[in-house]
Amino acid sequence: MSETGQESDDPVERAQVGFRDEFGETNGSGNLEVARAPGRVNLVGGHTDYNDGFCLPVAIDRHVAVAAEARDDEQIRVYSTDFDERATFAPDDDPTGWVAYVAAVASVLREDRNLPGASLAIASSVPTGAGLSSSAAIELAVGRAMLEVAGQELSPTDLALACWRAERDGVGVECGILDQFAVGLCEPNAALFLDCRTRVFEHVPIAGDVGILVVDTGVSHELTDSGYNDRVRECEAAVSTLQNAAGSDIQSLRDVDEDLLETHGDELDDVLYRRARHVVTENERVVAARDALENGDFDRVGAAMLASHESLRDDYEVSCPELDAAVELAAETDGVYGARMTGGGFGGSVVALVAGDALERAEQSIRSVVADRVGKNAQVFTCRPSEGVRVVSPR
Ligand code: GLA
Repeated sequence: MSETGQESDDPVERAQVGFRDEFGETNGSGNLEVARAPGRVNLVGGHTDYNDGFCLPVAIDRHVAVAAEARDDEQIRVYSTDFDERATFAPDDDPTGWVAYVAAVASVLREDRNLPGASLAIASSVPTGAGLSSSAAIELAVGRAMLEVAGQELSPTDLALACWRAERDGVGVECGILDQFAVGLCEPNAALFLDCRTRVFEHVPIAGDVGILVVDTGVSHELTDSGYNDRVRECEAAVSTLQNAAGSDIQSLRDVDEDLLETHGDELDDVLYRRARHVVTENERVVAARDALENGDFDRVGAAMLASHESLRDDYEVSCPELDAAVELAAETDGVYGARMTGGGFGGSVVALVAGDALERAEQSIRSVVADRVGKNAQVFTCRPSEGVRVVSPR
């Protein structure tokens, strides 16, 4: 709560207030630092990252903020203002739930450097389980804050990679690098074109007046117990069959194009063929959408988004009725160029690209029917393309 008794919408403010309430003004030796990391949407490039492919995410102006101070012991004490939950753990402990993300990041960062303990207060405006990377936002904000209070530097790419390892090894999701790179490296008013094999990226300015609209279906997805890891396995199986058929140059589905898939596709069973076809065509759509975005050709970006959704629904089978309904609703709304599911799928959110001058009307029109058409817990909101993780001055 702020001095007026109102809880602030701003997670930076809530994290600081939460820090003072939980740990007191002068808890430790250092100064209070605050790191802020955004959620993300992905315009095109679903399930391509762990196949060494391309993706095109945008950071959104919904954030996780972490207020932090160094401690003079090795413990991490963490307080969530949103859940009003707290935990204390030492380097070798293995906590569960949301604390696992904090512990995993602390443990990866501590592998190669001496980091003191820290007291951390976390507040978020990124909906959880909505496919908007709330977990990567926690990871990057915690990592950046812990480094800052320790007076240590790490490049944005290395921090993103450390957080990716934390999610894979510490939390057990066999994810690719999309979320951590988007949350770590995006710039305002730009999408991030990311080559997940070379990890080379490029900021693609969004040239023109467009807005982003999110429809959160309210169907929560959990990557740890969804079909996500099954899809990773299926892609590996497709690669190994194609390798036997076409040669060992094929290291991942990134090395497969439509011709090769047509030539050797009958070696794959129907499911693996469709999984591979999604990844191969999705990589092409990302490149086309990047070029179109650069040229301000939003119709083409929108077409790539709609085709991406169909492919994720029919070939990759990671959509669900609520996501399909939200895409259909968005696509028929005036001013919307295109829409698709974003994130791992099986629930979560849809992202729509909308003409700037139609954004507010589109939001209202979708909101007025979203409960009937998508589900009673569905939410609609607009957002601006934002910057990646930053240390922000305490206010
Ligand atoms: C989740 C994963 C990402 C990526 C997307 C699908 O968000 O964390 O690594 O695979 O799903 O594109």
